[in-house]
Amino acid sequence: MKPLIITGCNGQLGRALNKQLASQSEYELINTDVAELDITNIDQCLELVCSIKPYAVINCAAHTGVDACETDRDNAYRINAIGPRNLSIAAAKMDAKMIHISTDYVFDGFGDKPLIEFDRTNPQGMYGITKLAGENFVKDFAKNYFIIRTAWLYGDGNNFVKTMLRLSESNDKVRVVGDQYGTPTSADELAKAICHLLPTENYGIFHGTCEGSCNWAEFAEEIFRLAGKNTKVEKITTEEFGAPAPRPAYSVLENYMFKLTTDFAFADWHDAIADYIKTL
Ligand SMILES: NC(=O)c1ccc[n+]([C@@H]2O[C@H](COP(=O)([O-])OP(=O)(O)OC[C@H]3O[C@@H](n4cnc5c(N)ncnc54)[C@H](OP(=O)(O)O)[C@@H]3O)[C@@H](O)[C@H]2O)c1
Repeated sequence: MKPLIITGCNGQLGRALNKQLASQSEYELINTDVAELDITNIDQCLELVCSIKPYAVINCAAHTGVDACETDRDNAYRINAIGPRNLSIAAAKMDAKMIHISTDYVFDGFGDKPLIEFDRTNPQGMYGITKLAGENFVKDFAKNYFIIRTAWLYGDGNNFVKTMLRLSESNDKVRVVGDQYGTPTSADELAKAICHLLPTENYGIFHGTCEGSCNWAEFAEEIFRLAGKNTKVEKITTEEFGAPAPRPAYSVLENYMFKLTTDFAFADWHDAIADYIKTL
């Protein structure tokens, strides 16, 4: 069996990957979260990776609090940049593949066309800045790597979908930002895409999101429609919402590398969210 080290296994993607890989008997899963492996600690990373000699390290750990990263800069750099650096150094030492997850927030969002892997990055907030630093470390230190940029992720964990459904319990109307465009992506879909790349040597940077796009307000409307809620959505601007961290206004990713180099196709975001709502 091929050992796979999964970091951040209790997060949304970590859980989805476990579900996805459960049926694949060729892999042995070594699940770790911060209690078992703190990715910010190079000694721990080297010790575990050198003792397991994994086929691949799949880094699902991150500091995903976009607003918190603005004030918690040191931890954001530690977890989002130094962490993937440590894992990449250790994976390279053992000739293991390195799979790392990044974000649409590495782009500034000033454009209005779907972004491909060859477009210029220019993060505006600390989350995107630290995630881009993580990508660069992976490129510098891992030998065989996949960097997969995803967006607006929802799965088993805290996410926008659950927040909307919770708000709908006590509100007839919710105010949601209507001028930021992206693509809601199911952690299950992303996990399938990772499993597709895992056995290959098709290395590089990939955009990995569901197909299609919307703004947050449209996403909320679809969530309420699917969940049979009568809650109304009032569209507000980014400025009116006033979040501490800047967010890209347009960060729709095109899965260009998946399309160019694989036969893997992501589900449309409408279908993926419909499947997810059924599971809640
Ligand atoms: N969520 C999104 O909307 C989104 C969008 C674009 C890209 N992404 C990327 O997709 C990936 C998966 O995101 P997700 O939503 O599954 O994240 P998540 O649910 O926030 O899970 C991250 C996990 O990493 C753990 N962790 C934090 N610090 C750690 C450390 N030092 N060592 C080991 N584990 C640590 C967290 O533990 P604690 O909970 O105890 O901190 C948590 O279990 C991340 O790379 C993220 O940047 C996410």
